[in-house]
This record gives sequence, structure tokens and C-alpha cells, in this order.
Amino acid sequence: MSTLLISGGTVVSATGRTRADVLVDGERIVALVEPGSTALGADLASSVDRVVDATDKYVIPGGIDAHTHMELPFGGTQASDTFETGTTAAAWGGTTSIIDFAVQKYGEAVETGLAAWHEKAGGNCAVDYGFHQIIGGVDEQSLKAMETLVDEGITSYKLFMAYPGVFYSDDAQILKAMQKAAELGLMTMMHAENGPAIDVLAEQLYNQGKTGPYFHGIARAWQMEEEATHRAIMLADLTNAPLYVVHVSAKQAVAQLAAARDRGKNVFGETCPQYLYLSLEEQLGAGGEDGFEGAKWVCSTPLRSRAEGHQDAMWAGLRTNDLQMVSTDHCPFCMKDQKELGRGDFRAIPNGIGSIEHRMDLLYQGVVTGELTLERWVELTSTTPARMFGLHGTKGVIAPGADADIVVYDPNGHTSIGYEQTHHMNMDHSAWEGFEIDGHVDVVISRGSVVVSDGAFHGRAGHGKFLKRGLTQYLS
Ligand code: URP
Ligand code: ZN
Ligand code: ZN
Ligand code: ZN
Repeated sequence: MSTLLISGGTVVSATGRTRADVLVDGERIVALVEPGSTALGADLASSVDRVVDATDKYVIPGGIDAHTHMELPFGGTQASDTFETGTTAAAWGGTTSIIDFAVQKYGEAVETGLAAWHEKAGGNCAVDYGFHQIIGGVDEQSLKAMETLVDEGITSYKLFMAYPGVFYSDDAQILKAMQKAAELGLMTMMHAENGPAIDVLAEQLYNQGKTGPYFHGIARAWQMEEEATHRAIMLADLTNAPLYVVHVSAKQAVAQLAAARDRGKNVFGETCPQYLYLSLEEQLGAGGEDGFEGAKWVCSTPLRSRAEGHQDAMWAGLRTNDLQMVSTDHCPFCMKDQKELGRGDFRAIPNGIGSIEHRMDLLYQGVVTGELTLERWVELTSTTPARMFGLHGTKGVIAPGADADIVVYDPNGHTSIGYEQTHHMNMDHSAWEGFEIDGHVDVVISRGSVVVSDGAFHGRAGHGKFLKRGLTQYLS
């Protein structure tokens, strides 16, 4: 097995930072060594197979993106990143684990949907991957199938209060699934938007000739998110099921989460870079109310009004721990042939934004502007995802015994996000074009293998292993 020393850097964890060299043997971290220490030999650097110089740089645990949708069949098409292209882009951006959503479609057995996901991902990932299970049709059969998920290493599942006719569950179905989840120790992940009401609003707007992408945001009003978030919290409370609300974007939804947490409930929230930076006015409305440019940013929950202060509320929630995590909800679609499906009818625009490559960089800007500490950045992007989703000890920390998933991040570097040529996601555009990043992902190590260095990719599809996850270990 080969040995690697990451020397001269500042190791940052969720709780502090320290000057230390990190010694890796094979796939694992074996020691943190004080600079100048001779405890492991007088000249450690010359006894290892490879030295990575991290002088003046941060050494952080590899990012964990706990919300991705590779190859998701959705909106009459399929998310454009394969497991290979999506995990390669993840590696470029300093993310060394993803948790993707396996899909049970309505009318299909959970086992069939899960097997299909293993088929898509197996042998194709450049970094490690796990699955959450989407339950798209709660019935006696799928409730029974939930009992097998823990043994499969899938300890969380997602329900949708949105998308009637696709993944939607009604309150009776949600109640039953949560009862089962409470019994099994599964984490319930919720897409909290009132889908039936949204569909009525969307149809009314369309019939008034309001057909552009901007009206996607109008139809999916914040009241629809607040109401569903509240309802999910109450159902979770009643059934004693821990709840994780995905892609939170409305300030009123954060307030619902905060209130429940203040009452001591096991309720958690995730936001995404798009809800921190982008807005209804600037992006969804790009090109005017009828402009189609905004289709690039059609996602659900939608981008929200900056005038109403939702973006500021997301940053505040991350500071106060009313929101615990930042994932991407990476669900890319090209403009050509995909987003184009909804020209003339915003209801037919496939929902999703691609960000997997930029999450670490984008959130680091919060450190640059003083919204977050360096430690909180690591916590939100790596340590909490590991704890929340049963990977703690193996992922999310730089400590002896943990997987050597490590990123050397250069705070003095710079990253320009341009059009399609400047990123590695399988998209014909970027939702982040024009963003200038203070900071740079310099070296990325996945289970001891250097997969990105010197501006080049050295990884391979098939290096990534399936992560059999344990139960949630972090409820705070
Ligand atoms: O617009 C989104 N979020 N697309 C992915 C599916 C989902 O609801 O997470
Ligand atoms: Zn969702
Ligand atoms: Zn999603
Ligand atoms: Zn650099």
C-alpha cells in the first residue's frame, strides 16, 4: 500500500484548526503529525511514497453532497449527468462522496427501483456514493419494503408533498410512512411544497397567458412551502419520526423549522447554493417576465424574491444552526432539447439546477464575506452530512482511522466560473456563469488516491465505492 503525506497545511475541522501534517497509508488516514515532530521518524517526508505540499493552504475533509440526482428520469427527460460525469465533476469541486436518490416510481416495487440505481451507479462513480430511497408510491408493498432498507445501507428515504401524479404522497400516505420510519430508525426527508395547490395556481397563470419561467416562481409561492413544512413537522411530531426538510428556500419555512427545534423536536433543514445566491428577480426573471433565459434556473423549491429577504434568511439559518447542511440538489438539464421542452409553458420545463462542482467554492464565499467561520464551512459541507446520514467516523473528519478523503483548499487561489467549457458537469450552460470565486480546490484525495491535482483529473470511473450507511448519529 502506498503512503502519502500532506504537509505544511492548516487542518480544519468542524471544531477548530491546527497546523499538522496528515499521514495516509493506503485508503486511510493513520496520523496527524505536529510539524517538526520526529515521533514517526526523523524525516517522514522522505520515507513516504508521495508528499502533497499544502503550505499556506487549508486541509479539509472531502465534501459530502447529500442531495444529488444523477440520471434522474424527470419532466419528460433525464438529468443530464451520468454517475460518471457527475461524480467526476464532484471530484473537481472537492466533493468526495455523494448521496443520490434511488427512485421507486409509482406502481413499481421499491426493490426494482433500488436495483436499477445500483445498476446505473455501480462501476461508474469516480468518488464514493450512497443512496437515499425515494418512495414514490406509499402502499402496503412499499411500506413493507422499507423494512429492508437499513440492511441495504440506506437509512433515509424521501417523500414528496409536491408533484401530483409523479412522486406525490398525500397526508395519509405520509403518516403511514413516518410511522414505519419511526419504528425502523429511518430519517424521513421531505420535499415540502403543497403540490395540489401549486398545480392550480400554475394552471391559472398559464391560462392568463403567463407562460414564461418567471411564473414558475410565482406559482410556487412561499406560502406553499411554509404550509407544507409546517404540516410535515406536525406529522413527524405526531409519529415521533425525525424529519429532514430538503432544499429549504423560504424564510418562513426556516422559521417553522426554528420553532420546532426550539420545542426540542428532531427536525432538520438543508438549503442549497442557489437559495443563498440567486433570486426570482435576477435569474428566473432574466430576459423579462416572458424571457426564456430564466429556464436555466427553474428548480423546486423555486428561487425566491431578494426583496423579501429569503437569501439573507438562509445565511442566517446556517449561522444559527436552524439549517444544518448545504447540499446541491444537483439535477442538471441542458437548455437544448431539455429545458426547451417548456418553451411556451413553464409547467413543462424540467426542474433542476446543476451545481455539484461548485458547492465547496460557493459556500467558501460565506467565509470570505464573514457570514460563516472556516469551521462552520467544513461542518455544513462535510461533517454534518456524515453524521446526519450515518457515515460518521469514516467520512467528514480528518482523523486516524477515517477514510483519506481530503481536499487541499487554497484561500489565495481564484476560480472563475464561466460557460460550459469551464466546468465538468454534462451541461450546455452553467447556472453559475460569471461567478468569481475567492479560493481554489487544489488537490483532491479520495480514499488515498489523488484524483485532482495540478489542474488535472487523475481519477477513474469505478474508483468510487457504494457506501453502506448506518443510522443517523447526529441529532442536535
Ligand atoms: O428542481 C428540483 N429540485 N429537481 C430535483 C427533484 C427534487 O425535487 O429534488
Ligand atoms: Zn425535491
Ligand atoms: Zn432533489
Ligand atoms: Zn490553486
